[in-house]
Amino acid sequence: MSTVGAIVDRAAGEFVGRFGVGPTLASAAPGRVNLIGEHTDYNQGFVLPLAIDRWCVCVAGPAAGGRSRLCAADIDEMVEVSLRGLAERAAAAAGELPAWARYLAGSLVERWGSVGDGAMPELDLVATSTVPVGGGLSSSAAIETAAAVVVEVMAGGRESPPPCAGGSPVCRQVAPWDRLSRALDCQRAEHRWAGVPCGLMDQLASSFGVGAHALLIDCRSNGVTPAPMPRESEAVLLVINSGVRHELAGGEYAKRRAACESAAAALGVGSLREIGSLGAVEWARLDDEQGRCVRHVVGENARTLAAAGALRAGDLGGFGRLMRESHASLAGDYRVSCRELDEIVRLASATTGVFGARMTGGGFGGCAVVLATPEGAEAVARGLPGAYLRATGVSCTVERVRAVDGAAAVAVGG
Ligand code: GLA
Repeated sequence: MSTVGAIVDRAAGEFVGRFGVGPTLASAAPGRVNLIGEHTDYNQGFVLPLAIDRWCVCVAGPAAGGRSRLCAADIDEMVEVSLRGLAERAAAAAGELPAWARYLAGSLVERWGSVGDGAMPELDLVATSTVPVGGGLSSSAAIETAAAVVVEVMAGGRESPPPCAGGSPVCRQVAPWDRLSRALDCQRAEHRWAGVPCGLMDQLASSFGVGAHALLIDCRSNGVTPAPMPRESEAVLLVINSGVRHELAGGEYAKRRAACESAAAALGVGSLREIGSLGAVEWARLDDEQGRCVRHVVGENARTLAAAGALRAGDLGGFGRLMRESHASLAGDYRVSCRELDEIVRLASATTGVFGARMTGGGFGGCAVVLATPEGAEAVARGLPGAYLRATGVSCTVERVRAVDGAAAVAVGG
């Protein structure tokens, strides 16, 4: 597994290979795994994600020519574009870009709009990522956030304290209020440039991550409360990639969000967050689809708060039960799971030493998250892939993840 420093070195090598000079700045932004609180963020509810040790890294420097060159090293693609021109035409220009570049360019432009002074400068940039694309681990938010940090550094780090001394490659962090504005800019890039009406969880997690902690986020106030993860001798986290690609731009995500909003309107509340308990719901006002949304979201908010309490109390068994209930609700009521994810959750839950398992992220494929004792995790890694392949005909990967700090500017070069 790569460290930030190793990914930056790789990206810088790619930059030199393509552009003939070294980059002058670098940024790293982590992906996230959500422990519980799924499809609640856009309902102003509660989520409990953590930033994970998989990063998108951007290295950049002033453009050699009059236009910017943006390169996605992992897929060996590059676009040459005027960022200034894009900024002038704003998101209307998104259609001129390949899908991957919309996240990058959108975030560069949106963030410059908030922290930049004058016309958007042109830059050469290489992005590379160890967050699997389409895995439900926020590869998009990681790209957006890494790009936004590049812009903050270009803008002169107005909001940033000076680089910290010491050996850490993560050398510059911005103030919390500014991280919120960054997350909002990144979300705007995803809405306007990529066309995905996402909530704010992923962008907040990528910027606010705290090593060894999960983050309880209230998506009404956007308040973030770090909650310590259990010691590694007690419990570890696995993400199991189902091998089925998750695709939020496909429209199902937007449909769920619209159904939640129509259910809130039918109940006369601003958001489903306002509904404190299922007992208070006037079911007669809702059609079947709206009823399913309300059951999931109201139940999931309660489960997320209970899970944060269980984490604080060290009740990992209770935490795991809530994870399984969350999965059942996402699969049954909300209908965002799939046969493969259900199979992973079933197999993992049947393994001794596993506290809990559930799908994580938007759904429709992607990853499951498993909380297990170290021995349980080993048993899952040994036994689950074979059983999953036999049951589904699809291969999965099992990887351990740890909670890390959020996005930052990074030292580049020697
Ligand atoms: C995606 C979105 C998030 C959130 C999750 C589901 O990851 O980007 O905002 O809605 O799905 O919890």
